[in-house]
Amino acid sequence: MIIPETPEHFDAVRQLTIEVFAASTLGHHGEADLIVALRQRCEHTLSLVAMEDERVVGHILFSQAEIREPDLLATQCPTLGTPIFGMGLAPMSVHPSHQRRGIGSMLVKEGLQRLDELGNRFTIVAGHPEYYPRFGFRPAQEFSVSHGFQGMPQDVFFLRPGPSQDDDVFSGGRAHYHSVFGPQHEA
Ligand SMILES: CC(C)(COP(=O)(O)OP(=O)(O)OC[C@H]1O[C@@H](n2cnc3c(N)ncnc32)[C@H](O)[C@@H]1OP(=O)(O)O)[C@@H](O)C(=O)NCCC(=O)NCCS
Repeated sequence: MIIPETPEHFDAVRQLTIEVFAASTLGHHGEADLIVALRQRCEHTLSLVAMEDERVVGHILFSQAEIREPDLLATQCPTLGTPIFGMGLAPMSVHPSHQRRGIGSMLVKEGLQRLDELGNRFTIVAGHPEYYPRFGFRPAQEFSVSHGFQGMPQDVFFLRPGPSQDDDVFSGGRAHYHSVFGPQHEA
């Protein structure tokens, strides 16, 4: 069962996140703190939990992201102008004992459906190239959109336009997650 996260899930989500990323080669192992910081500092988030026998076995978090277009960068003042707002998917975790049973897919699908219904314009994610395309994500490079994290390859970065979104709107630009994700270069 996928339900919105409430404060009573916070401790379980923290424990789950620490356990999952400790067992994973991915991530930087600061994900549990990142979730806390996003709850505190990011205005728009969507956080869902997967419950089994009243236990949290999965979690997904979406937080506000934006794409700044090249002409905004050309102003030399990236805070000017109007970026395109969307959401960034991260982090996501399913307990190792419950992985590969479709729980991660249910979390992604439920989250994207809720965001689509709210008119979300795009979702970005960095992750497994064989996993995210099944939910409508395409390489962000197809939209000439890049991320600004130093050292992270661009080919693990994906973008899914919202259902009513014209692909042309993403005619190049730099995607930014919320600043709690750390430094992201403009160009
Ligand atoms: C990624 C993750 C959330 C997927 O959850 P899940 O419930 O296992 O996912 P599903 O059962 O819906 O889908 C399984 C698919 O996930 C993909 N997958 C899962 N773990 C993977 C891994 N380590 N490497 C590559 N692909 C992986 C596979 O494509 C798999 O498909 P298959 O079973 O047909 O081979 C889960 O494996 C996890 O928590 N991993 C550790 C943390 C992480 O990487 N989070 C994502 C980045 S923030």
